[in-house]
Amino acid sequence: MKNDNRPIGIFDSGLGGLTVVASLKNLMPSEDIIYLGDTARVPYGDKSPENICRFAVQDAAFLARKGVKMIIVACNTVSSIAMDKLGEKFKDIHIVGVLEAGVRACLAEKASSIAVIGTNATVKSDAYRRNIHAVNPAVKVTSIPCPLFVPIVEEGLVQHPISDAAVELYLSPLKKNPPEILLLACTHYPLLQEALRKYFEGSRLKIVDSATACAKFAEEFIREKGISASEHGNGSERYFVTDMPASFLRQAKRFLGRELDSFEKVSLDTN
Ligand code: DGL
Repeated sequence: MKNDNRPIGIFDSGLGGLTVVASLKNLMPSEDIIYLGDTARVPYGDKSPENICRFAVQDAAFLARKGVKMIIVACNTVSSIAMDKLGEKFKDIHIVGVLEAGVRACLAEKASSIAVIGTNATVKSDAYRRNIHAVNPAVKVTSIPCPLFVPIVEEGLVQHPISDAAVELYLSPLKKNPPEILLLACTHYPLLQEALRKYFEGSRLKIVDSATACAKFAEEFIREKGISASEHGNGSERYFVTDMPASFLRQAKRFLGRELDSFEKVSLDTN
């Protein structure tokens, strides 16, 4: 089998997609990775579909110019709203999205009830429910937007009682009769797993994290297509951001699980 040593491009509205990078690095250490976080315009979750599509195309175009072999959309909001647009615009590049991965991981559990939690835009798009029901219409799907979770994670408050209060605020309707699966349909949410677990302790609820699912899905996709890097690949990483807010490095460490030693600031104002 021949190898494809071009890098994998991964983008997110901000730094949450680093949770996908961290998982992918464990699974495929030889792959070169180029990450783009649109930190100047995060969050996407409260923007209109038109703007989310426009930003997504600019993000993907940046990675395409870097000569990537595939693009991983590590943002649930983009993955819920802009995949068709990206497919139309970038016909020659493989594109996989975190939504497809999350849906697959949920369905593999053969659960009869799933609660999907995500940003306002992700939930409003109804894309998770539609995709789950396209395969199995019998599954009960409840979708709940949790807009405070992103700022709580970004402020590093996941151990603070405010996390428990926000979990209670959004998820109390599930408390009495929890679903079998709670799907974390936002790349920020894996950092809130502890608070979520604690809230549903003693129930049968299982958490499915779309970021880990996305890395696994991308690995399978790469192997299936025969486009993996040679075993002796460098496993290099380049990180690009569109802004460097004050808390940027601290946040990056939280999502990636280690320091980000180098990054470059770029502008996407090209179209
Ligand atoms: N990364 C986004 C997502 O997964 C969350 C942050 C945002 O709203 O842009 O949906």
